Amino acid sequence: EKEADKYKIGFSQAMTTDNWRKEMNKSMRVEASMHPDLELEIKDAGNHIAKQITQIDDFIQEKVDVLIVSPIQSIPITPVIEKAMNAGIPVIVIDRKIEGRNFTAYVGANNIEIGRNAAKYIISHSENEATIIEITGQEGSSPAHERSIGFKNTLDSVPELQITYSIKGDWEKASIKDRLSSLLDTVKTPDYIFCHNDRMAMGAWEVARSKSLEDDIKIIGVDGLFGPNGGIQMVKDGLLDATLLYPTGGAEAIKMASDLIQGENINKYNILRTVVIDSVNVDIMQNQFDKMNQQQNDIEQQQAVIDEQIETYNSQSALIRIMIVLLLLLLFLTGWS
Ligand code: FRU
Repeated sequence: EKEADKYKIGFSQAMTTDNWRKEMNKSMRVEASMHPDLELEIKDAGNHIAKQITQIDDFIQEKVDVLIVSPIQSIPITPVIEKAMNAGIPVIVIDRKIEGRNFTAYVGANNIEIGRNAAKYIISHSENEATIIEITGQEGSSPAHERSIGFKNTLDSVPELQITYSIKGDWEKASIKDRLSSLLDTVKTPDYIFCHNDRMAMGAWEVARSKSLEDDIKIIGVDGLFGPNGGIQMVKDGLLDATLLYPTGGAEAIKMASDLIQGENINKYNILRTVVIDSVNVDIMQNQFDKMNQQQNDIEQQQAVIDEQIETYNSQSALIRIMIVLLLLLLFLTGWS
């Protein structure tokens, strides 16, 4: 149910099992908390396409003011987004894309550029020939497709560098470990493994380690999350050679939704910046994130103080009201004199 005095943003999140999506949700909640006129509801589709369609349908029935969607896959989620648009609900697509252009705005990093940057990294660090294994994300989700295109196209220009094998993953490390393990048993050890995200990169490292190959294979991931088990830590610890920052765009999406609600025009394509994180800049990145985190905590603390003050004010004014009633009662009982 929609709160009467607020605008409602409905966010259909593909799933929330991993830290990257938890971070996206968190940044949305924090940003939304700074707009008192906004109410944000997040529905988690648990990586089930049918469920995501039903949840988006529910938001349409409810007539939310803005819908934000991170689609599990492009093609199956496209029609229900069209339905929202036809119902007059603006739709912001975040991270993964849908088919066509029937949505209000998109926000996310350029995944072709991410693939391209991974390839450029390998090119600039290889003197001679090098062999490469690519481990892709879930087929049918746009970042997997686009990261591959950027990666392959850039490597095509350098005959000495070849993608010898490609393993289809599903974004989670469990999907690739067995296949990578048997591949490494049968083929020449590759120089590089490019994984479409850091979770699969962690899986690749574990497989390499189990064969004592971790010092021979350079692994590159994507996401560059801050925190324990995040890509930044993995680069610091030398598990990854590099990772490509893939910002979640959560705060940006809420700002865009707020602008739409205010009746402002927003850009259709809002492309977030990415950067290679490797041993050269990992400490700088870590410091940067530490600072941001500190500011984040400060904001949350201030928010808590404000909430507390509102609470005190409300209970004080309730007390004052009770006292006035008691006073009137007293005056009445003593006969006004
Ligand atoms: C999180 C995730 C990220 C990846 C993104 C692509 O669920 O798998 O690791 O970069 O989705 O959409």
